[in-house]
Amino acid sequence: MEKSDENSKKSNYNDQDAIVVLDFDLPSLFRYDEKRVTSNAFLRKLIHSAADAIIASDMTGKIIIFNKAATEVSGYSKKEAMGDLNIRDLYPPGDAQEIMKKMRSHEYGGDGLLKGYKQMAIRKDGITIPIILNASIVYEGDKEVASIGFFHDMREAKRLECEIEKMQIQLLQAEKMSSLGKLAAGVAHQLNNPLGGITLFTQLMLEEYDLNDDAKSDLLKIQRDAERCSSIVKELLEFARQTKREVKLQNINKIVGRTLFLLRNQSIFQNIEILESYDNNIPEIPVDIQQLNHVFMNIILNAADAMEGSGVLDIKTFLEDNDGMVHITIADTGTGIPESTLPSIFEPFFTTKEEGKGTGLGLSMAYGIVESHKGKIKAENRPEGGALFSITLPLKNEAQFLS
Ligand SMILES: Nc1ncnc2c1ncn2[C@@H]1O[C@H](COP(=O)(O)OP(=O)(O)OP(=O)(O)O)[C@@H](O)[C@H]1O
Ligand SMILES: [Mg+2]
Repeated sequence: MEKSDENSKKSNYNDQDAIVVLDFDLPSLFRYDEKRVTSNAFLRKLIHSAADAIIASDMTGKIIIFNKAATEVSGYSKKEAMGDLNIRDLYPPGDAQEIMKKMRSHEYGGDGLLKGYKQMAIRKDGITIPIILNASIVYEGDKEVASIGFFHDMREAKRLECEIEKMQIQLLQAEKMSSLGKLAAGVAHQLNNPLGGITLFTQLMLEEYDLNDDAKSDLLKIQRDAERCSSIVKELLEFARQTKREVKLQNINKIVGRTLFLLRNQSIFQNIEILESYDNNIPEIPVDIQQLNHVFMNIILNAADAMEGSGVLDIKTFLEDNDGMVHITIADTGTGIPESTLPSIFEPFFTTKEEGKGTGLGLSMAYGIVESHKGKIKAENRPEGGALFSITLPLKNEAQFLS
């Protein structure tokens, strides 16, 4: 076995990307010292250019190899890693010892080996990231002298996984919406006629009979309730997209502004600060103004409900990254939406409001309307508290939608 002369090489290592001091027993490669230097340099390059992070440490945890991918995955510079960083700092507390234990046990890929192990790593910025770890103990005879780990960053794979899951949920949602929409439309049509009858005959009784005040007040109550039923039916039909649509080029800022104009003087908004930021470069877009009024009205009323009368409502319209969409965001400082109910809020009849206060149709209708405009609507919780609803609407729509 040939032994590399550490002292004579030391000065050359200072500005290298990874320090590799290795012993080789490959006589054909190392016949000449010059060739050995070249080969060592080549190995350094191999390690340096590997796609996975390669990190080796001695038995005290001091880092001895830290390649370029390691700096990207961990956020530490090579200098920091080779300085004070200990391999233990790269894992949640206790995990480094656990990994060593597993490497020594036979169950995880053989003695001294750990294969395809799902692990979390801690970056310099404190963020914990998922990795797949392939690691091994380096022996000199029977003695453990170092450990080496190949860290495969799983963030992108996890992101894709989440994305696919989200798309599946959206597909399921769209399917559910479409069948529920058909059912709702059928029921709504059947209710329309009897409701019309109730309203008409109550009106006739009020006009044609000389009734005492009690009877009149009872009839007025019937009329009010029938009207409420009619508006629910109307919302249902709108949700199921059964009402006649009228699409024209409209200024989205004006639509949002008008909805706010109608609402801001209502008592529920008295202690709510309204912040508005409109991008005046947004061109007119083809939409049904009535339907969009409903969308914004519902979302803003929900926000006011969630703030229970006081807070900040923040509304923005903007264009972004030439993605061909107009963006509208409506944020509030209310209770936020519990993560457990977040997937259900766009479902028809889903409500957390007490009976008589909410039908649970507002957001399902908004969802149907935005989808029919070939746009997207989503809800999330803001890190600082409160909910954020984001709507995107296409700047241009196909001729089919306009006809
Ligand atoms: N800004 C918000 N903050 C917190 N929760 C919200 C917010 N917007 C909606 N939600 C939740 O989503 C549920 C469904 O909303 P949706 O508008 O569909 O129905 P609703 O407001 O309950 O009744 P409706 O609008 O038919 O009168 C609400 O009951 C509420 O729990
Ligand atoms: Mg609502």
